[in-house]
Amino acid sequence: MNLLEVRNLTKHFPAKSGMTSSGGNVVKAVDGVSFNIAQGEVLGLVGESGSGKSTTGRLILRLLEPTSGNVHFEGKDVFALPKHQLRELRKEMQIVFQDPYGAFNPRLTVGNIIGEALELRGVPKNSRASTVAHYLEMVQMPANVASRYPHEFSGGQRQRIGIARALAVEPKFIVADEPVSALDVSTQAEIVNLLLDLQKRLNLTMLFISHDLSVVRVLCDRVAVMQNGLLVEVADSEQIFRAPQQEYTRELLAAVPIPDPARARRKAA
Ligand SMILES: Nc1ncnc2c1ncn2[C@@H]1O[C@H](COP(=O)(O)OP(=O)(O)O)[C@@H](O)[C@H]1O
Ligand SMILES: [Mg+2]
Repeated sequence: MNLLEVRNLTKHFPAKSGMTSSGGNVVKAVDGVSFNIAQGEVLGLVGESGSGKSTTGRLILRLLEPTSGNVHFEGKDVFALPKHQLRELRKEMQIVFQDPYGAFNPRLTVGNIIGEALELRGVPKNSRASTVAHYLEMVQMPANVASRYPHEFSGGQRQRIGIARALAVEPKFIVADEPVSALDVSTQAEIVNLLLDLQKRLNLTMLFISHDLSVVRVLCDRVAVMQNGLLVEVADSEQIFRAPQQEYTRELLAAVPIPDPARARRKAA
């Protein structure tokens, strides 16, 4: 069953310079994009910087108003929902950002940050501390970090806290927008493995946005490739990596760093 159905999603921004290279006065950030995400599925959204990935993610959560098109979540028309129902929907969809630091109130402790999410779904005050500990454990952090502040943590640890906060709302759907792109390579692997583990345990449905195909390969069931606001290819992960149909996808794949040095040397030769 499809949890999410995106149809002809379009977002045009006014161009800053007044004119774009294509002669129009708008930036077609997202230009008629359609795809589905099934319950329990992870769809990767890839493409180079500026191709419209983040705009797509933000439109789905209605953090941005669309120019046209529609999004159905569990059959509900997201863009037609009145404000009070939108608040309900926000509990069912969460976003994890590249660096959650900007989204954390720096004056709140980790316990309060996760606690806010629990309050949102009505967890009673007297069981909040133990529930916070439960979500910290899920992201492999000790319960005592609850009394500390976000700035005390490394990027990888902050990303764990961001994931814990998103999970604490018990969402049905998560948009992860480049959640490991700001991290060093070894930390990236840790967070990707954590997400993989959580996805399997909780049967999470996710839109996983990344410009890095090596990360997408590990996590995603299917991959949607975006170029200049358009979806150019959507296929099973396996198919995308084994036999990409589009030249643009092949170019993206060619830009993925090759971990095997011998293979890298052969390629360079
Ligand atoms: N708020 C905005 N105002 C104007 N242009 C924007 C805005 N947000 C994004 N864009 C433009 O839309 C295009 C797609 O951006 P974005 O969705 O952030 O791409 P990606 O996440 O793939 O890097 C880019 O050309 C970007 O400059
Ligand atoms: Mg982006």
